[in-house]
Amino acid sequence: MVDNRGYKNNLLFVAVVIGIFITIIYIIKRPLPNENTLKFTDPTSSWTECRHVTIKELDEWFDSGEWNGIPKIIHQTWKNETLRERQKQWSQTWCNQYTNWRYHLWTDDENDLFVRTKFLWFYPTFQQLSPAILKADSVRYLYMFYYGGLYIDLDYKSIRRADHLFTNKSVILSLINYSFNSMNSVPNSWMASKPHHPLWTYILYRIMLLWSRATDQERNEFWNGKAEFFTGPQSLFDGLMFYIHSNLQTDQSLDQLFGNNQNQTSDSILELANITFLGPRLMNAYDWMNGIGGDVCSAERPTFNENICKEIVKPIYGITYWSHSYGHGHENDANYLRSIQT
Ligand SMILES: *[C@@H]1O[C@H](CO)[C@@H](O)[C@H](O)[C@H]1NC(C)=O
Ligand SMILES: *[C@@H]1O[C@H](CO)[C@@H](O)[C@H](O)[C@H]1NC(C)=O
Ligand SMILES: *[C@@H]1O[C@H](CO)[C@@H](O)[C@H](O)[C@H]1NC(C)=O
Ligand SMILES: *[C@@H]1O[C@H](CO)[C@@H](O)[C@H](O)[C@H]1NC(C)=O
Ligand SMILES: *[C@@H]1O[C@H](CO)[C@@H](O)[C@H](O)[C@H]1NC(C)=O
Repeated sequence: MVDNRGYKNNLLFVAVVIGIFITIIYIIKRPLPNENTLKFTDPTSSWTECRHVTIKELDEWFDSGEWNGIPKIIHQTWKNETLRERQKQWSQTWCNQYTNWRYHLWTDDENDLFVRTKFLWFYPTFQQLSPAILKADSVRYLYMFYYGGLYIDLDYKSIRRADHLFTNKSVILSLINYSFNSMNSVPNSWMASKPHHPLWTYILYRIMLLWSRATDQERNEFWNGKAEFFTGPQSLFDGLMFYIHSNLQTDQSLDQLFGNNQNQTSDSILELANITFLGPRLMNAYDWMNGIGGDVCSAERPTFNENICKEIVKPIYGITYWSHSYGHGHENDANYLRSIQT
């Protein structure tokens, strides 16, 4: 009996030791609660403004696939890293508000490398495009096609963030007005997209085609509207029409497709073949054709005044002052951003 009791005690001892051992292993192996939460917390949620990334960092993040829908990357472009003072301030308004977004300012050299390495088929056309605005216009469609995200001209100011409107959207464009008979009513100065959307390929194809067919005079000489025609809003408009007509199997105009345009208000959001159009007051409150606010809203006028302009045109999410910093396709055109340093 005594031996038996001793045996039981030993068994109990061994069981307790194994129990303690397992408990210790469990405590050691168990991830800390902190570690768990960290793992599932989006690191961008602690950013207090957008994060400026190099192309290498952008590519690493983009290739990791840790994004969905419209990737949270803002693209802007300028000839080099030195923005004019006013551009810097406007650009910063996006960065201040789009806190969990990445940001990259593309320079001319980077654009050249990007097109040469990622779009070799477009590069021969790209190299010939002149003046510089034609390249700056074209490369933005390539950002949209390759990375997607948000492209914004440097004379846009953010009033309040709009990215809640991006959920479940494929391509978002922004109207100046509802006169779709004008090929300039959908500007290419503010655009958002998922990567690899076919719309952009239609536009690139049009640029290649029109450029290849242009005469030397049309290619080399300055003429008014050259940029708008070859690479600007008119290329976007034609691309849109190709895309919408083929997707909806229709030959109707945008006016017909959207119904009576009197019914749309300045802050309507329209949808057609999964392309979203923001009404004028949402992003482009100032229409340089209709004259309203022109004296104070045009960054090309000496009477330019942002605060008075905002009171007149009442922008909701953003506004552009149409500074035409590339000089309407004519690099020698004078404009205020060159003369005013503030
Ligand atoms: C950018 O270009 C401007 C003139 O066009 C020049 O003044 C400036 O120094 C350049 N900045 C850099 C970083 O090269
Ligand atoms: C986005 O789409 C998903 C899936 O169809 C849906 O559950 C969700 O409500 C949509 N979100 C918005 C804001 O429309
Ligand atoms: C709408 O805006 C475009 C681009 O500014 C312009 O060409 C067109 O004339 C405008 N339409 C009206 C009715 O003002
Ligand atoms: C536009 O408004 C009129 C009058 O309110 C209405 O009869 C018509 O159906 C509307 N058209 C569209 C396309 O919504
Ligand atoms: C729009 O998107 C929906 C949902 O993804 C899809 O079913 C539909 O075919 C798309 N329409 C067009 C015209 O691309």
